Amino acid sequence: MTTNAGLLARRNAAVPRALGHATNAYAQRALNAEVWDVEGTRYVDFAGGIAVLNTGHCHPRVMEAATEQMHRFTHTCVQVMAYEPYIALAERLNELAPFAGPARTIFFTTGAEAVENSIKIARAATGRSGVIAFAGGFHGRTIMTSALTGKTLPYKRGFGPFPAEIYHLPFPIEHHGTSVADSLKALEFLFRADIEPARVAAIIIEPVQGEGGFYEAPTELLISLRQICDRNGILLIADEVQSGFARTGKMFGIEHSGVEPDLITIAKSLAGGFPLSGVIGREAIMQAAEPGGLGGTYAGNPIACAAALAVLDVIAEERLLERANTIGARIKARVRDLAQRNDTIPIGAVRGPGAMVGFEIFAGRGGTEPDPEATKRVTARALEEGLVLLSCGVFGNVIRILVPLTVEDEVLEEGLHKLERALTI
Ligand SMILES: Cc1ncc(COP(=O)(O)O)c(C=O)c1O
Repeated sequence: MTTNAGLLARRNAAVPRALGHATNAYAQRALNAEVWDVEGTRYVDFAGGIAVLNTGHCHPRVMEAATEQMHRFTHTCVQVMAYEPYIALAERLNELAPFAGPARTIFFTTGAEAVENSIKIARAATGRSGVIAFAGGFHGRTIMTSALTGKTLPYKRGFGPFPAEIYHLPFPIEHHGTSVADSLKALEFLFRADIEPARVAAIIIEPVQGEGGFYEAPTELLISLRQICDRNGILLIADEVQSGFARTGKMFGIEHSGVEPDLITIAKSLAGGFPLSGVIGREAIMQAAEPGGLGGTYAGNPIACAAALAVLDVIAEERLLERANTIGARIKARVRDLAQRNDTIPIGAVRGPGAMVGFEIFAGRGGTEPDPEATKRVTARALEEGLVLLSCGVFGNVIRILVPLTVEDEVLEEGLHKLERALTI
């Protein structure tokens, strides 16, 4: 019989240690917000494949669209012979672009590739090289996106040198001692000391930091960045790879602020489990790169594009923006209740727009000192209870919830009950 332990032993002999795993369970099958391992153990899935499954595992509409396309053809390479699902998806996303005026969209395969290409596009459009990102931000694992990522360990150590002209600002987290004013002051300093604004192509920011800890970019920061960009001909890139596609209760996280970015990067929940990413941007900017300068053999795979068209239908028809707000409110209320109790470990800073919910584990009740060890124990206990739960955060002390927005009420309740048990002393 295939066992988790047997597969782990084979994994340890065949795969490098650099690939991390949040659990040692091996998946056998999954449906909506439930997943079963190879031993038949069932789990409620609060991880959603790290923000990929806003429409759940194997949504029937997504599966049907992908299967239909798979039977027609699986690959031609869009640069050899293009296909309608690619064009139709670009048209749909252009309509959804969170800025006024005409938009264009190009597809890639992974989130990192989308970010890489947003930088290429920004450089081609501005003729400038500098890029400013934020500490704690996560943008991927390629060399450029590792450079943009604002966390050294484990993402940078041993992998340099990185591309030049990448700069970081502190990301404002009030309860960890950094304000919006601090971030803006650091930007002023950067412009004076390291790179003048006229050499900066883009500022890239996650509207809600994902891997960094589910910290929402304050609206006043986004408004100031927009003004600084406008004054200096700098492009504003919103990395929506984790926050996009209804997770926050809007199609894109940046929409909560009313700030219009110039480019947005998309991936993860775009295609409901199929590898697909893209860049949506203002038309004039997107047209800057030379023909042939952007693309990729697998970029905009037809099965993934067909799946993504179905994902957009599901988001609209099942009213997932509303659903994100409903389930998010329920999760936050429940965790806030747990935070008030004496029989749970110290929990606080419950937050997040819509269903992009995070909260922190602290060393002492009422304090704000992060407790990463206790956080690891919580995710391990959750797994024992039958709940797949992820942590994140620059201090390793944030629990994040990325349950499919399509989760049935009973399954959500069951998951919250398991979460409560994992947090109880
Ligand atoms: C905000 C953000 N950008 C980029 C990426 C990189 O995406 P991928 O892992 O698909 O390359 C991630 C992945 O977690 C992410 O959260």
